[in-house]
Amino acid sequence: EKGTYPYYMLKEIDEQPLVIRRLIEKYRNEQGELAIDEDIVQAVNEADRLYIVACGTSYHAGLVGKQLIENWAKIPVEVHIASEFSYNMPLLSEKPLFIYISQSGETADSRAVLVRTKELGYKSLTITNVPGSTLSREADYTLLLHAGPEIAVASTKAYTAQIAVLAMLAAVAAKAKGIALDVDVTKELGIVANAMETLCDAKHEMEQIAREYLATTRNCFFIGRAVDYYVVLEGALKLKEISYIQAEGFAGGELKHGTIALIENGTPVIALATQEHVNLSIRGNVKEVVARGANPCIISMKGLDMEDDRFVIPAVHPMLTPLASVVPLQLIAYYAALHRGCDVDKPRNLAKSVTVE
Ligand code: M6R
Repeated sequence: EKGTYPYYMLKEIDEQPLVIRRLIEKYRNEQGELAIDEDIVQAVNEADRLYIVACGTSYHAGLVGKQLIENWAKIPVEVHIASEFSYNMPLLSEKPLFIYISQSGETADSRAVLVRTKELGYKSLTITNVPGSTLSREADYTLLLHAGPEIAVASTKAYTAQIAVLAMLAAVAAKAKGIALDVDVTKELGIVANAMETLCDAKHEMEQIAREYLATTRNCFFIGRAVDYYVVLEGALKLKEISYIQAEGFAGGELKHGTIALIENGTPVIALATQEHVNLSIRGNVKEVVARGANPCIISMKGLDMEDDRFVIPAVHPMLTPLASVVPLQLIAYYAALHRGCDVDKPRNLAKSVTVE
């Protein structure tokens, strides 16, 4: 129940630190080490390529998961939008493993791909929040998100739980292969949970940002580079689905190849800067849009922050920044929708789980 919260979405945003801490408990063995069902880890490590298939926010989590798995477990990963997979079926590797990511476990587009890959005889793993859901029952293996029921149509805590589970899977698969990681993922996820708590306490600042930048705007652009690009895709989706502001996420370097034509005086551009190796280049992209009149809002990370940044998130491990940087974007979307009088939990034209193809 939503208790004292005006909307489920706000409650679910606030639950994120707890969900991460719960996952740390659920995926550890008696010795306190990160642990995942051995059959699943074996299936992942036996595959020569992983194919992540998902829709919407779960697809965005898959993009982050690709980076984690490729960097840590050194397994090539492709990420596909479920509804496109059947027409654009990639040339498959010899030993693929399909990973279906779905909060509800009921998404018809993803299920259609699962049915197809099963017919072809390929193994599958479903990462879902709902035990016993269709995608869980029909796949060979399941990993649960343990996020508790997600009621708001806009997915928040399921997204961060999906990334945390993918991070743990990547770390456990790496260890099983004998790859020594220079990161203690359990500890780093603990740091993430604390950072998320700090971010959830910054509601007032996010409400201010929403008021300043988004109260009357027609559109809004989000930019990021490297993993920040994947997070801005999610930030834009959150904003458009609940506030009806036309919002798009772009890779910073891609703007000048067309989209910059849309920048006018006062156009809000929200930029994420949490990655050291692209910090200067994303700031260069901000300068380009400011020169065309944009109203920039830079959200950076402690240690990489600069003078004009609008908000600075606490420092977390560079591979895990999406778990923290998405929280301000979720809150900005929430307050923008609230200020514009929208029904935050039940946006028009949308259903919580999309059970038609
Ligand atoms: O239940 P699923 O994770 O399979 O749902 C996939 C999408 O329909 C879902 O993430 C949708 O994009 C959300 N409304 C986004 O907030």
